[in-house]
Amino acid sequence: MAAVLLSSDLLETLPDAIVAVNQDGTMVQVNSQAQELFGYDRDELLGQKVEMLVPENYRREHHHHRERFAQRPKTRRMGAGLDLYGRRRNGSEFPVEISLSPVSTENGIFVLSAIRDISDRKQIEEELRRAHEELYQRTVEQLGESRSRLALIIDSSEDAIISKGLDGTITSWNKGAERIYGYTPEEAIGKHISLLAPSDRPDEIPEILRKIARGEGIEHHESVRVTKDGRRLDVSISVSPLRDANGDVVGASAIARDITDQKRTEGQLHQSQKMEAIGRLAGGVAHDFNNILGIISACAEFLRDRIDPSAEPLQYVENIKKATERGSSLTRQLLTFSRSSVIQPRILDLNERLKDVGKLLRPLMGDDVEILIVSKSTSAVIEADPGQLDQIVVNLAVNARDAMPRGGKFILETRAEKFDDDFAEQHQKMAAGKYVLLAVSDTGSGMDEATVSRIFEPFFTTKETGKGTGLGLATVYGIVKQSAGHILVYSEPGHGTTFKIYLPSADHKIGLKSKPEVETVAPKRQGTTILLVEDDETMRSLTRQLLQEHGYTVIEADDGKSALEWVESHPGPVDLLLTDVVMRRMSGPELVERLNASHPNLKVVFMSGYTGELIAEREVLKRGITLLEKPFSRSALLNTIHTTLG
Ligand SMILES: Nc1ncnc2c1ncn2[C@@H]1O[C@H](COP(=O)(O)OP(=O)(O)OP(=O)(O)O)[C@@H](O)[C@H]1O
Ligand SMILES: [Mg+2]
Repeated sequence: MAAVLLSSDLLETLPDAIVAVNQDGTMVQVNSQAQELFGYDRDELLGQKVEMLVPENYRREHHHHRERFAQRPKTRRMGAGLDLYGRRRNGSEFPVEISLSPVSTENGIFVLSAIRDISDRKQIEEELRRAHEELYQRTVEQLGESRSRLALIIDSSEDAIISKGLDGTITSWNKGAERIYGYTPEEAIGKHISLLAPSDRPDEIPEILRKIARGEGIEHHESVRVTKDGRRLDVSISVSPLRDANGDVVGASAIARDITDQKRTEGQLHQSQKMEAIGRLAGGVAHDFNNILGIISACAEFLRDRIDPSAEPLQYVENIKKATERGSSLTRQLLTFSRSSVIQPRILDLNERLKDVGKLLRPLMGDDVEILIVSKSTSAVIEADPGQLDQIVVNLAVNARDAMPRGGKFILETRAEKFDDDFAEQHQKMAAGKYVLLAVSDTGSGMDEATVSRIFEPFFTTKETGKGTGLGLATVYGIVKQSAGHILVYSEPGHGTTFKIYLPSADHKIGLKSKPEVETVAPKRQGTTILLVEDDETMRSLTRQLLQEHGYTVIEADDGKSALEWVESHPGPVDLLLTDVVMRRMSGPELVERLNASHPNLKVVFMSGYTGELIAEREVLKRGITLLEKPFSRSALLNTIHTTLG
């Protein structure tokens, strides 16, 4: 029996199980906590090797530990991070924490071990770990779920959602981007974002990237982008910086919306609002001014009656009279423009009326202008003020004459027209229904875009002072609007001008029942490729949309030259060429000529705002060509194409 090291009273008060071991590992003292923990009686422990309290597979190792400890004994606290186990009498094992304290006595060094059962703590730790794991797992799942939900939202967006690095390299590309710009994600990702920039705006994207790098965003910035097939789109772009976990800007996400259609509608609306405002202003001024002229004129008359007819001052009074007359003729035109003149509309046949006005035109136009009047439908019944109608024709004729100083042709055409709902939707403010078209064309100088955009404004003139007041077309505009009609103009420098005036048909007012027309739209066609050549962007995108919706494959070009280049570099089939006639670099007829060699059987449909009569005069077109006159309805477009394809 080994010596007692410590007072057993002291050992008993300690919370932990205490086992004292001598140098060769024999237990020399234990407290009752130790007996309880390991399930042995004191007598069964004392004198035994301490390894009996260690699970069998740890015993060898424990032996080594003990020997090493004996060589260099030092105090080791609890919780040293070792995974240690105890073994009960019944063989069950449990996790323990042990502190070791070497104690020197005259009998040599003893080691006092304090042993603590940490099963509870281990279990809590284990549960905590499991809870953590579960939480992690669930977060990952939720994150994945919300990520795929986000991806779904991004892909179902109508807008283009694109992300890019700080250097402008595209890193993500949603379905909306593919739909709007035409590039697939494979084609776009990894490319530089300037892929979409039009060549006339080289500074915009670098500027946006600089802003992003500074951590700034941009919102609803209106710009222009170019699609894969070279179309220009109006877009509204918002860009925000993307940051990493540290808050550093690493790139940007951009949302772009195609606002081409919206822009077009806005433009049309803006134009009509502008005319509306000018009309109101002009009307107001004209009204007051007319009253003032009335006073001047009346006073002049009083004066005249009171002056000796042979006296010299009478001549001045006569001049005042003449000036006021000129003044009131001006204000009358202004009042017509502002639609505040009094009119007396009657039911009349435009064809009949034109015959009469035609006689008036002869002396007006001079000998070197040929006048042509073409009625393309038997009835052209409208409700209008005959005097106003004459004024329209005369004003347009005078302009045409001025545009043809060396002579030419002046052509008046009438035709019945019908606009369907589709048409009304595409052409702002033009209601669906039956109209009579009066087309007035000349083979004169034509106008550039800037001039065309202002011709209806009162006092807009390009003529030298004294030659024109700029009220001719303003008056025409006023009359047409007052008659619930519409006026469109087509003109290109050097190619003459066509004005198209649509006046509501009055067939129904004279009880003329039109035959119930069955609107037939040609059947859909898949797998037919149309090469669409048109320099007016709005017109082109509209036409493309109509064709694509009908199943046609459309290739676009903005003039003859680029169309030719496309055909030369793409050997695929083109079934039909739908081309504008007058274009900047290469005209429609020229393009057809050039394509004839490689595509002798190519079907061709020309389209133009000019009327067929004018086209036949101006352009070298073979007879028997198909001409689709602008503006055209969806059914007119599709039916013409269908018939031409055969
Ligand atoms: N048929 C046309 N061909 C070419 N340019 C035209 C034609 N019609 C009108 N214009 C242009 O539009 C401008 C405005 O025409 P508008 O008839 O309103 O005024 P004006 O002819 O200049 O003057 P006014 O008719 O009052 O004597 C003209 O100055 C001209 O530049
Ligand atoms: Mg004029």
